[in-house]
Amino acid sequence: MISFSSFKFTLLPPLMVGCLMAASASNFDNYFDITWGDGRGKIVNNGEVLTLSLDKSSGSGFQSKNEYLFGKIDMQLKLVPGNSAGTVTAYYLSSKGSTWDEIDFEFLGNLSGDPYILHTNVFSQGKDFHTYCILWNPQSIIFSVDGAPIREFKNMESIGVPFPKNQPMRIYSSLWNADDWATRGGLVKTDWTQAPFTASYRNFNADACVWGASSCKPTATSTNIAWFSQEMDSAKQQRLQWGRRTT
Ligand SMILES: *[C@@H]1O[C@H](CO)[C@@H](O)[C@H](O)[C@H]1NC(C)=O
Repeated sequence: MISFSSFKFTLLPPLMVGCLMAASASNFDNYFDITWGDGRGKIVNNGEVLTLSLDKSSGSGFQSKNEYLFGKIDMQLKLVPGNSAGTVTAYYLSSKGSTWDEIDFEFLGNLSGDPYILHTNVFSQGKDFHTYCILWNPQSIIFSVDGAPIREFKNMESIGVPFPKNQPMRIYSSLWNADDWATRGGLVKTDWTQAPFTASYRNFNADACVWGASSCKPTATSTNIAWFSQEMDSAKQQRLQWGRRTT
């Protein structure tokens, strides 16, 4: 385990080769490409907001221009409001190739008034924006919603559990129809009279290591790399327990 005080970038050669710490503002044009959906994904409001939509013919999706190896990545996401049954919104990091790594938030839509399912955690409906954060460092991956951690995967390679730490990942998101399985096991179908369904994204922020940049100049004194050594403290562990109990 590397503690923050003894942190030296030279300890971590694979991370440091061609890596640049970047804090980004939220202009979607600079950081993301809409990759599919034939016009159903849009960047609007001078780059401040990105929307994905789904109708009977197609869903849509986007991906980040950069690849990242570790980071603290925040995004505000407003899920499909109202009757979203049958739809799935996925927001995730993924590497490429046949042995890819993936870190996902996946939201299964539901009838109006019924809660979304986020993995096994239940979260509120699509009325408001919420901040979804993925903190990924060599020790752990922590998922948070509105600042409250909901899940932590610790690096347990010492006992043989694989942990993603060698392959850079892009950020992806997509909205699509999955009414054969998504809502109550496929019993509730998408109501196409409600289409198009729209999810919105804003306030993207990445304190992250951008893969392939020509240099890496983090300053060890800078607090913006606190995420690199962060693990959950016991207070947060308790909130995590609380989060589990609500499922
Ligand atoms: C939808 O809401 C119902 C009722 O609260 C719940 O049983 C179900 O697990 C929810 N989620 C999905 C994806 O069906």
